[in-house]
Amino acid sequence: MAKLLIAGGRHPLQGTIKISGAKNAAVAIIPAAILTSAPVRIENLPEINDIQALVEILEFLGVHAQWESPSTLSVDASTLDKWEPPYELVKKLRASYYLIGALVGRFGRAEVPVPGGCDLGPRPIDQHIKGLTALGAKVEVEHGIIKVEAKKLIGANIYLDIVSVGATINIMLAAVRAKGKTVIENAAKEPEIVDVANFLNAMGAQIRGAGTDVIKITGVSELGPVNHSVIPDRIEAGTYMIAAAATAGNVLLCDVIPKHIDPIVAKLREMGVTVDVADDQVRVIGCHLPQAVDIKTFPYPGFPTDLQSLAMVLLTQANGSSIITENVFEGRFKHVDELKRMGARIKVEGRTAIIEGCSQLSGAPVRATDLRAGAAFVVAGMLAEGETVISDIGHIYRGYEKICSKLNSLGANITEID
Ligand code: UD1
Repeated sequence: MAKLLIAGGRHPLQGTIKISGAKNAAVAIIPAAILTSAPVRIENLPEINDIQALVEILEFLGVHAQWESPSTLSVDASTLDKWEPPYELVKKLRASYYLIGALVGRFGRAEVPVPGGCDLGPRPIDQHIKGLTALGAKVEVEHGIIKVEAKKLIGANIYLDIVSVGATINIMLAAVRAKGKTVIENAAKEPEIVDVANFLNAMGAQIRGAGTDVIKITGVSELGPVNHSVIPDRIEAGTYMIAAAATAGNVLLCDVIPKHIDPIVAKLREMGVTVDVADDQVRVIGCHLPQAVDIKTFPYPGFPTDLQSLAMVLLTQANGSSIITENVFEGRFKHVDELKRMGARIKVEGRTAIIEGCSQLSGAPVRATDLRAGAAFVVAGMLAEGETVISDIGHIYRGYEKICSKLNSLGANITEID
């Protein structure tokens, strides 16, 4: 299994990079494509392993999928004839749970193994099940397989007990072709949800309110062809913004939607980092000693949990102590032990981490404990003295397109080794 070797030294990152399409929108839009048997064309897909895995799953199910370019996929789901994706493929990514909503929306049945993905502590899917059940589906979990059957899906009022991105999208997928009106209350408001709704509406769905906490869906009997371009990845953008700030660099990011990165821009400015925002670009100019700040993760538009581990690395370089409170996932501090092995001084108490600043990190072998933690170790490796070797890098490639060449084009020194 390959590893990443990162030469440290805190060399300032300099230059320009382009942000790819949003992973968390793309992994929902690809399953959504099977809701129609008309031709679907999706542009600006990120070149990442999660997308490759989803395309393999679709092909297994009988869909004809063809790459027109590395980022443009055409999908013809008229030949779809299976509703039981295999465990070997489904376990590769968390987002395979979207196959449930999409298959039930198309066929009235799905048998999907409980999905894999990052280990962020307990990740129940009770809200997905609650939504599907409210729409009239019978849901059973047997031998690790989620079995869903519905003679006819009927629109319903669904109040989510917890704000969940996955449950909001999954219910939307199942409800677009249901009979009558569905209302999702306490819905998640992430930009990726809006992108999925825009994709479905362009196919003829009737979804209103995506991006607010009440989403109203009027079911339609059929969906038609669509050509859609995926929004830019705000988490990838945030990752490189933090990397630029941490190395006291000067980096221009192109192809961003500034509104989507507001919480990151605000935090970096609070730390004394210069962030200039224009149209679809953002420039980050780091400072040598950023100020310590406190960060609380929340669903959008709060500070994203997906950038928590990266922000933690930046805060090890800050002037003073900072507190991070993780409000979204119960077990999302698994990266802390690895960062401590690199010399970071961090204390975790429950959902809170106290990070002492001005730490000289030193290169060490570390294991990518999850996708975003893997990216955090890449940044930590660039700040450290000496070399860092990251193992289990499959996690990183699940979600970051060409991370090594993008960072190397800015002056980093990262190589893949066997
Ligand atoms: C999605 C993102 C992930 C991001 C997360 C939060 C994708 C593919 N992944 O994950 O990158 O970190 O949103 O922004 O888009 N929960 C329940 N019951 C449920 C569903 C969720 O208790 O049925 C809990 C979770 O355990 C978690 C919280 O709700 O504590 C939020 O989870 P959710 O928004 O569903 O995250 P994911 O969709 O898994």
